[in-house]
Amino acid sequence: MKNEKKVYSVSGNEVFGSLPLMSQEEVGDKIHQASAAQGSWGSTEVYKRAEILHEWAEQLVKKQDQIGEVISKEVGKNLASAVKEVVRTADLIRYTAEEGCRIHGELLKGDSSKGGSSNKMAMVEQEPLGVVLAISPFNYPVNLAASKIAPALISGNAVVFKPASQGALSGKLMIEALLETDLPSDTIQFVSGKGSEIGDFLVTHPNIDMITFTGSTETGQAISQKAKMIPVVLELGGKDPAIVLEDADLDLAAEHIVSGAYSYSGQRCTAIKRVLASDTIAHDLSEKIKQKVENLSVGTPEDNATVTPLINNEAADFVQDLIDDALSKGAELVTGNRREDHLVYPTLLDHVNSDMKVAWEEPFGPVLPIIRINETEDFVSLSNQSQYGLQASIFTKDVQKARDIATKLDVGSVQMNAKTERGPDHFPFIGAKNSGLGSQGIRRSIESMTRDKLFILNL
Ligand code: G3H
Repeated sequence: MKNEKKVYSVSGNEVFGSLPLMSQEEVGDKIHQASAAQGSWGSTEVYKRAEILHEWAEQLVKKQDQIGEVISKEVGKNLASAVKEVVRTADLIRYTAEEGCRIHGELLKGDSSKGGSSNKMAMVEQEPLGVVLAISPFNYPVNLAASKIAPALISGNAVVFKPASQGALSGKLMIEALLETDLPSDTIQFVSGKGSEIGDFLVTHPNIDMITFTGSTETGQAISQKAKMIPVVLELGGKDPAIVLEDADLDLAAEHIVSGAYSYSGQRCTAIKRVLASDTIAHDLSEKIKQKVENLSVGTPEDNATVTPLINNEAADFVQDLIDDALSKGAELVTGNRREDHLVYPTLLDHVNSDMKVAWEEPFGPVLPIIRINETEDFVSLSNQSQYGLQASIFTKDVQKARDIATKLDVGSVQMNAKTERGPDHFPFIGAKNSGLGSQGIRRSIESMTRDKLFILNL
């Protein structure tokens, strides 16, 4: 059909579904429906909204295998991780429902500031913004969508949900599960189509009151420039370093680095994307990482492999170019550099330097550069030279040293002795510099989707 897009499985390249390619007019109608539904949803008691979210979570748990299978086919994630994503999402939704019930506002007395008045008393409530536009990426098509939709709904907003095309079938199933609850159906609107046709239309539509987006830095920057006078929360790219000091437990560091860098083939914004290793331990660390990388399972999502084909061929070409560039400039290939179509084998490069693209660019694939470092200050300066500032890991036994370095890193979060990761989902999740704008995590997301409204008693 002309107005449909076929959806292919990542590993088998078989058609297993289709998506409507909506026109601007159709999308406009959906936004208006959401807008019209928001008023009564916004005045529905919070406990009722919470009950609906709990029902949604239950539906997802019931459908975990069905939705997991679609995620697995659609974005090439192994089945076990795909099912885990659905269960994690149900937990996230439940916590969001409970957290929404704990938004109580404030009571401010007027005489607390000089020049104020003891006759005044302000009741501060959080009210919904209106219609939230939630745009989610391919890599966590259920979890990252729900992490926007659930806080928007619990705080009384209506939602227009636009998933990435690859990942949209999983997103659609998740919305079908939501529509099996008592949610008034117009409150959530699913839209799909070509970004070139409906992207700008959505982000500039006058009935969109807030945008929450996860995806590339380039698209996030374009959204923040186009959205006028509405709040925008962005979760974008990263180049998270694992900083390994000479006193680190190298077995622990290697374990976390490998899991952080290569799970889901490195297609995570929070993947470890470079290792900055103290010169004195770099060789041993590289050997330990190599052994673990060579034990990773490589294959199809159906086989539950850790490293599976990348989302498309262009993604694999991009990763291959980074590997080729580094090798042509003198990096040492420790292991990997093998490719079958868009399956890129896990690749480890040592002796990477600042002239190589892989030292700076986000591969979103299974290649990890090791950069050897002499001086403590270089850890900080090399880390901070990146345009990104999502997270960093520091491996050391010395808490004081870790804390000293952490305070100087331009990133949202620093993990000590563990891989970089977003979860648990109720922790604030922030990207500094080109990694994001605003803060997410359940509580912060709710706050970003509400505004203060004051009723002031003048006694
Ligand atoms: O891709 C970005 C996701 O927020 C990563 O989430 O760290 O929990 O895997 P995760």
